[in-house]
Amino acid sequence: MHSIQLFALLLFAFRVSSTPLVFTEQAYYEEQRSIPSVSIEALEYWGRYAGAAYDDFEDWETCSKCQITKDMHQTSLNTTWSTSLPAFSRGFIGVNHQQRQVIVSFRGTTHIMDVLADTQVAQAQWPPLISGSYVHFGFLLAYMSARQTVQTAVQALMLDLPGYSLTFVGHSLGAAQTVLALVDYCQQAECDGVGLVTFGAPRIGNRLFAQYVNSLLGENVLWRVVHGSDIVPHLPQALLLFPGQYVHSDREIWVKDDRSITACERSSEGRAEEDALCSASKHMWQWSMQDHMEYPGISLLLVLFSV
Ligand SMILES: *[C@@H]1O[C@H](CO)[C@@H](O)[C@H](O)[C@H]1NC(C)=O
Repeated sequence: MHSIQLFALLLFAFRVSSTPLVFTEQAYYEEQRSIPSVSIEALEYWGRYAGAAYDDFEDWETCSKCQITKDMHQTSLNTTWSTSLPAFSRGFIGVNHQQRQVIVSFRGTTHIMDVLADTQVAQAQWPPLISGSYVHFGFLLAYMSARQTVQTAVQALMLDLPGYSLTFVGHSLGAAQTVLALVDYCQQAECDGVGLVTFGAPRIGNRLFAQYVNSLLGENVLWRVVHGSDIVPHLPQALLLFPGQYVHSDREIWVKDDRSITACERSSEGRAEEDALCSASKHMWQWSMQDHMEYPGISLLLVLFSV
């Protein structure tokens, strides 16, 4: 027997034995692709925190249009930042005492396509201690402008609030920055139980970086939410030859227009590329900027009218 066939058979046998139900291909996929804790409500919950980074922080406490006061009275602002040079970064760290959560939220930008088209699409070696890991230079520059503020505040908060969970969220360019912030945090502190929920994230770094992100989060919440045909998760395209391709980290959660959710296969399940049955099934001519603006819990108007 050919070794490939033998391997397939072994894989098949292993998968059948781990599934108590009668095996059908359809049942297998449905079982693999549903994670009980992923619901549209859970996505909306984290989406509101990602969307709230588009609010005007100055009058957060009294603002009637702001998502954060409308939906999340129990969340208080601990830290905010806003940088414009050398690169754009804006966001907040909130504390929800009721849910015992600390949330780090990076704001996105409607100019995401400019950032992606920029010459800064080149990669830089980062983080320093992980040799062979490279990330998008423009995203790194943006994150670095906020790094000191964010890391100092998060570390102080987590020391002061034992037992609180820590979740990094962000939409668009904010999604890229929040992944970098999480990796940076895990380089300096214990990050068991830390969560990551991104919305419309572009590809951030090379395969080694993606694998490193996956290894940090283990079985924890690690959701890379993609809506329909959103164009941004398909960028930067994996065309650059040096020093490496752009590769996504796990785990894609694909939300379709009818709000149905697919929990896509992880690369640790033996898959090297993105799950072909999720957003990767969309062709280039279907990619959509409008889908990038619409995510559970994130208000389209806030995104469009942010500067
Ligand atoms: C933010 O959190 C730190 C650490 O717990 C605390 O010392 C500081 O007073 C907080 N700042 C605000 C504005 O709540």
